[in-house]
Amino acid sequence: MRIDLIGAGSLGLLLGGKLASTGNDEIRLWCRGEQQAQELKRKGITVSYEDDRESLWIPGDRLDALATTGFVHEYLQSPSDWIILMVKQNVLHTELVKLLAPLHNYKPHILCFQNGSGHMEMLQELLPEAHLYAAVTTEAAKVKSKREVIHAGTGETWVGLWHQSKIKKRPVNDQPEAISLLTRLNSAGFLSHLSNEVESKIYRKLLINAIINPLTAIWRIPNGELLSSSSRMQLMRELYEEAITVFDAVGIDYDANAWENVIQVCQATAGNTSSMLADVLAGRATEIRWINGNILDMADRSGVAVPAHRWICRVVEGMNVEKG
Ligand code: PAF
Repeated sequence: MRIDLIGAGSLGLLLGGKLASTGNDEIRLWCRGEQQAQELKRKGITVSYEDDRESLWIPGDRLDALATTGFVHEYLQSPSDWIILMVKQNVLHTELVKLLAPLHNYKPHILCFQNGSGHMEMLQELLPEAHLYAAVTTEAAKVKSKREVIHAGTGETWVGLWHQSKIKKRPVNDQPEAISLLTRLNSAGFLSHLSNEVESKIYRKLLINAIINPLTAIWRIPNGELLSSSSRMQLMRELYEEAITVFDAVGIDYDANAWENVIQVCQATAGNTSSMLADVLAGRATEIRWINGNILDMADRSGVAVPAHRWICRVVEGMNVEKG
């Protein structure tokens, strides 16, 4: 199988490296710049761990590292079986729109790994013929350098055909392309499942992200420290109550124990730097607009007041200093 993986940040390096390490498939890893692509070709990818597991080194010749500028040309010459999008939401909504637009009339299989929501609808409009799949993952990765990544937490990944509910449902055993990809992900060490409920998983994760991400980014604390004071937990609870009021108003289901889930994620990822805090610390734009911003949009559409989400969006938006 040939796989195009676009985005060589933390999850892109981790997935690209581990898929390439099996030696079974042709992996093309598309990087933002030529410099990173050259470095990956010369030195390969190193995946390390926070415990005493030995790090894994994937030599540069096990995969093809390339700059995204050449993507469409290469794809049209030799199309891949899957395109996996590992870029952040802001890059997806800007640079990737330009990059993928020439595929408007093509039917690629695309898997999207973003936090937040709104991106699948955007891609469906951009690429109406594509077979779009969404992924929700609890794998955690931290970038160490442009070619080194730390696998900070082993999780699970759910993959599902987008908009199952609105078009004719395809049973999971009738999706051979997705089953083949899942086999690859599982043999590379990512516990992955094909799901008919990926849309509700996206919103379940959105709820968790909308509480943990902005607060950890503002207070600059690891996820677990959110639970260490009652004033922190009170603000978490306010964000939670507003978000579920919006979910109720627009008809999005959530678990009866959704609040306990938020607490459990903070405990399970206690030492982790959230992706939003990592963005703030690196001076990158955050994904606030596609996380709490989408809760705001839904609230505005349904006439629900969400003062805490509105305030937090403005605070985090003001922290963004895009360095590119
Ligand atoms: O965005 C993240 O960092 C993660 O989705 C989560 C669940 C908040 C854990 O760090």
